[in-house]
Amino acid sequence: MSNRTFTMIKPDAFSKGHSGAILDKIIKSGFRIVALKLTQLSAGKAGEFYAVHSQRPFYGELVSFMSSGPIIAAILEKDNAVADFRKLIGATDPSKADEGTIRKLYAASVGENAIHGSDSDENAKIEGDFFFSGLERI
Ligand code: RTP
Ligand code: MG
Repeated sequence: MSNRTFTMIKPDAFSKGHSGAILDKIIKSGFRIVALKLTQLSAGKAGEFYAVHSQRPFYGELVSFMSSGPIIAAILEKDNAVADFRKLIGATDPSKADEGTIRKLYAASVGENAIHGSDSDENAKIEGDFFFSGLERI
């Protein structure tokens, strides 16, 4: 079990002004921010990040949405970080997400669902390294 995970506040939540409230909720839920940046993905970079979904029917929409505006990327630290963070963000489809989860509070649809969370320790490491150099993290 690793103690780090990776997250992105997606373009929908960023453009609606929810970034501050989401970061506050993450910190109050016991996660420590160890890397943080505001950036915008090109379509190429978004496609690379979500390459695992390249054969899925929603891939084109996903890439276009994820490159449509600024995102906030972060590496977070906590015991059991990956599983605890997936619990905090809630189900992929916000209509199925538990009360009080970030997606229940801030997401509009399965396509535009406010936030990303890594699904395994292995992917947390790959995704954190995709966005952050050694100098950009503590
Ligand atoms: P994420 O990777 O963004 O944290 O989301 P997730 O693990 O909960 O869901 P995943 O299966 O990895 O899907 C990645 C993203 O693709 C979009 N999606 N759209 N239209 C659809 O049926 C559909 N299914 C997935 C979502 O934005 C999802 O977060
Ligand atoms: Mg996923």
